[in-house]
Amino acid sequence: MRDRIGWAVEMLAPEASECILEIGCGHGLAATMVCDRLVDGRLLAIDRSAAMIEAARRRNAAFVADGRAEFVVAELARAEFGSAVFDKAFALRVGIFARGNPERELAVLARHLSPFGRLFLFHDEPSRTANDLVPRLEAGVCRSGWTVEARATHRVRGCDVACVVARHPDFAA
Ligand SMILES: C[S@@+](CC[C@H](N)C(=O)[O-])C[C@H]1O[C@@H](n2cnc3c(N)ncnc32)[C@H](O)[C@@H]1O
Repeated sequence: MRDRIGWAVEMLAPEASECILEIGCGHGLAATMVCDRLVDGRLLAIDRSAAMIEAARRRNAAFVADGRAEFVVAELARAEFGSAVFDKAFALRVGIFARGNPERELAVLARHLSPFGRLFLFHDEPSRTANDLVPRLEAGVCRSGWTVEARATHRVRGCDVACVVARHPDFAA
């Protein structure tokens, strides 16, 4: 059985040349699996915790050195990505997407996802089932006019992991 992060990276299905944004990368475990699949693509991973970014950068030092990965301390709602355009963005277990109103965060993402870009949100909490988690993720994005394109769930060691894939309002067909 694939673990939580392994399943998420399978769902994300990074392609060799894609430019990918990770939000809330923590220790950088998913970042390692994403970078393993990139050739001339690039991963920018952010986290609002400097300690997490330091740990993620250490874990992925080889990918930083060869230019495949960059780790930056930033809170998504205030992040400055310059002229960057991402093919995919993803977040694993980042509370604002499951529990709050991520309006400001989604506005930033809408400016920097490509016209064909997708946002992949993954969430799990020990006391919550997929039936509870999926609508929570959906509600957050739909409130800002995003379109949910796909939903998926996976069970890992007795805990449901939910995934919602969304497109931003400017380009959702
Ligand atoms: C529960 S941890 C999950 C870490 C990793 N993604 C995982 O699944 O193992 C949430 C991480 O997201 C970061 N985070 C939470 N909200 C954030 C935000 N708005 N912008 C950037 N990072 C955020 C936290 O600092 C923390 O490192």
